[in-house]
Amino acid sequence: MDFEKTILCIGAGYVGGPTMAMIAAKCPHYKLVVVDVDKEKIRAWNSDNLPIYEPGLDELVRETRNKNLFFSPEIEKGIRESEIIFVSVNTPTKTFGQGAGKAADLQYWEKTAREILASSTTSKIVVEKSTLPVRTASAMERILNENSKNIHFEVVSNPEFLAEGTAIRDLEFPDRVLVGSRETPEGIKARKEIVEIYANWVPREKIVESSVWSSELSKLVANAFLAQRISSINSISALCEKTEADIDEVAYAIGMDSRIGPKFLKASVGFGGSCFKKDILNLVYICESYGLEKVARYWESVVEINEWQESRFIQNMLRNMFNTVAGKRIALFGFAFKANTGDTRESPAIYIAHGLLEEHAKVVITDPKALENAKKNLSTFEDRVSFEQDPYRAAEGAHAIAVLTEWDLYKGLDYERILKTMVQPAFIFDGRNILDHQKLFNMGYNVIAIGKAPLKHF
Ligand code: UDX
Ligand code: UDX
Repeated sequence: MDFEKTILCIGAGYVGGPTMAMIAAKCPHYKLVVVDVDKEKIRAWNSDNLPIYEPGLDELVRETRNKNLFFSPEIEKGIRESEIIFVSVNTPTKTFGQGAGKAADLQYWEKTAREILASSTTSKIVVEKSTLPVRTASAMERILNENSKNIHFEVVSNPEFLAEGTAIRDLEFPDRVLVGSRETPEGIKARKEIVEIYANWVPREKIVESSVWSSELSKLVANAFLAQRISSINSISALCEKTEADIDEVAYAIGMDSRIGPKFLKASVGFGGSCFKKDILNLVYICESYGLEKVARYWESVVEINEWQESRFIQNMLRNMFNTVAGKRIALFGFAFKANTGDTRESPAIYIAHGLLEEHAKVVITDPKALENAKKNLSTFEDRVSFEQDPYRAAEGAHAIAVLTEWDLYKGLDYERILKTMVQPAFIFDGRNILDHQKLFNMGYNVIAIGKAPLKHF
């Protein structure tokens, strides 16, 4: 079959895979090829056991794979044969040299740009899907367009706003799609080509066009604002614990103000995920490099409050459990950074587990989807940490349960049954405020939640 367009995506991760699967499903007239340096990952995308868990993804891939969606290890061929290249390789925080701990590490992006240049024989549109510092497009254009092949590359920014666990819905019904380009005739032409792809299923008024710089910066700022709401409510959760105000009641009351809105006001043990911390620190670094110290400090405090919230959680556990957890079995309910994903990147559970293990607790981890990743995250503590698929077994003989991921599964467990198998006095630390605290207290548990007065029998 002849396809109208051939689109390549470099980077078959959480963003690249689902995004291309959605385009393939909505645009049977386009050919989508997804490549990755990780051959094993490509093999997994071609198997029945996809490399990531995302509700609805299996069905979408099954529907399109080998029809107009292809996962391939052949990067050079992919580049040669496509007109549009989405790049969604990872851009982690730099761990070395200037900007270490804050700036984005662009080495994979630059390497990818050079690969695109080396294998291209025709002009192409290169789309930034990865989150990048503002003005990256300019550097990439310079690398790509300093060539003697007489070909031209237009760099377009099209940041991804999908959230894990709801990625398929977010892709199908996005709040908005952002496409930024240079304001030159070539830039605007390239922008329109990308807009045309999304217009196959996204209402035109939801597709926002802007300059390439606004688009790059909007992604960082969107994540910074979302994270800032969580740090704001988490900071108030600490005040609630001191004043007997209830954080869920406060969040509900303020969220009814239509100017504030109810979303992203759920107090928690802290935010995790691959993006929030990385993108805020990246924003901080950019502000610092432009001499905007006050702006940098403002946004940095969002990350600091998050780290403080995580450490407060451990301190609360210790204080309530008679100042020692050494030798005590503690069951962590949930290890993923949020429900409905197996992803554990920057999960607060990693920090909590480390803190408890440093206090010589015996930690047992249960999670319906994230146990494999949890094992990798905690490989250095092999002797004192165990993994258990079944939450009832995880809680057996435990002194405490800490709910760290808001999986629905944990709301429906038989806590009477669990209590009988635990060491008394039994504690539940609800790091997501998802359980019925009063009911658990009446059963006999001591319940310590976020931003609420503790319910204790002593
Ligand atoms: C990525 C970026 O990290 C993030 O900044 C952006 O917002 C969205 O894209 P994600 O898809 O979650 O996020 O990353 P990951 O799941 O790690 O996937 C990146 C993939 O790129 C990996 O499979 C990796 O093997 C691949 N890669 C990396 C390449 O194919 N080539 C490289 O040179 C480097
Ligand atoms: C985020 C952005 O939402 C998305 O638009 C962007 O493309 C990538 O980063 P993601 O990290 O997948 O998506 O998940 P998100 O739903 O934003 O949750 C991030 C973290 O915040 C999770 O740990 C979650 O549990 C926590 N959170 C979220 C809260 O603690 N309280 C809330 O009210 C909302």
